[in-house]
Amino acid sequence: MVSPESQAMVKHAGLRSSRASLCFSDGCLFLGGVLLALLLVWSFSSFAYPPSPLQTLASSSAVAGEAKPECASAAAPPRDAEESGNFYDDPELSYSMERPMTGWDEKRREWLRQHPSLASGGSRERVLLVTGSQPSPCKNKIGDHLLLRLFKNKVDYCRLHGCDVFYNNVLLQPQMFSFWAKYPVVRAAMLAHPEAEWIWWVDSDALFTDMDFELPFDRYKDHNLVVHGWTNLIYEKKSWTSINAGVFLIRNCQWSMDFMDVWAGTGPQTPEYERWGNILRSTFADKLFPESDDQSALVYLLLTQKDRYGDKIYVENEYYFEGYWEGIVGTLPNITRDYEDLDRQGPQALRRRHAEKVSKYYASRRAEAEAAAAAPQKRPFVTHFTGCQPCSGDHNQMYSGESCWNGMVKALNFADNQVLRRYGYVRPDLMDTAVVKPIPFDYPAGGGGGGG
Ligand SMILES: *[C@@H]1O[C@H](CO)[C@@H](O)[C@H](O)[C@H]1NC(C)=O
Repeated sequence: MVSPESQAMVKHAGLRSSRASLCFSDGCLFLGGVLLALLLVWSFSSFAYPPSPLQTLASSSAVAGEAKPECASAAAPPRDAEESGNFYDDPELSYSMERPMTGWDEKRREWLRQHPSLASGGSRERVLLVTGSQPSPCKNKIGDHLLLRLFKNKVDYCRLHGCDVFYNNVLLQPQMFSFWAKYPVVRAAMLAHPEAEWIWWVDSDALFTDMDFELPFDRYKDHNLVVHGWTNLIYEKKSWTSINAGVFLIRNCQWSMDFMDVWAGTGPQTPEYERWGNILRSTFADKLFPESDDQSALVYLLLTQKDRYGDKIYVENEYYFEGYWEGIVGTLPNITRDYEDLDRQGPQALRRRHAEKVSKYYASRRAEAEAAAAAPQKRPFVTHFTGCQPCSGDHNQMYSGESCWNGMVKALNFADNQVLRRYGYVRPDLMDTAVVKPIPFDYPAGGGGGGG
């Protein structure tokens, strides 16, 4: 079945590729100028109102033959979409959490109707990964280096899987410090990215340790919030660590806006902060600090208002949606070995060199081989260095700083090896970040050996 919309998209794509090929020739600028001039004639005749300053600017640069951006702008939405009114034109629209949002689903739907090529559809869920860190340099002397590598890891994952990334490094609501800082960012990101169906918050100290794994969005189709946790620990043990709020998927919709208002309504920007601290402390026997925190607040909402919110919140524990680093880091060397064994013994596709863009196909071949071989241990999807505080260095005293930083280096290199392999290299020693070796043809079957 082909909808009129998708036919229009096919035509649009065809136009784009033929025009892109023009851009390789010297005629590009000239033709671009002609096209732009034609478009302008068309758009002036299509609209009754006078041209905006932007249009005037565009037309004067076309006259001056400076239509260079035209080649790149072929992918931009049609002008008329940008000229229709939508929620951005409402002077009352606020990006801040202090002003509740109403009617977001309709506002977003209208915007998507104006920009059909940017909507989620089919197997493609539009996802914006949001993460961030403090505005100032890290106190820990290797903190900024670790943050850079942790960020690179997220960029790598999203390049492979088609998510967008937004890195924030300022407190949008100054009173919402520390773990509270993410809510104003997630809220603002929903408005800045109406095309994104999901906002994926990932703490700066969490990283992807399986670069092939894809989120099972089908499983979440009737839910609006996905967190990692264990329902028995929530409802029976009443533990504040029964879930982890450092990584979550939240659907870009009115429910999420409302839920975040309630959730973050327990935070330091409210007069209720102290009262919530007392309530949460007295609810969770294992919560040892007096301040209200977002994770306890989420468990509390599940415990006390399960009927109201429970059916929209998916508590995931079938894979490491996020996993606690202490139990994971020690398993990485054996996982490396087991994956190499399968690569060596499995079908040739597992060893074939390939373009990074087609990684998905090879990941599916690997998954088949894994299932056939009943492979012992899967790579953990996300490893979260909870309590390590790479930036401040003020790690939990339960473990040594060394175990945190070494664990991070090991996990980062474990993940990066999966990326580097597509570029022809591998780090043989997970603790030696600076040394790589080239990957021989048919690796690891071809006698290359090593790899971590
Ligand atoms: C790794 O594998 C070896 C050999 O199979 C085993 O003795 C060891 O306990 C494993 N280590 C971990 C952390 O699982």
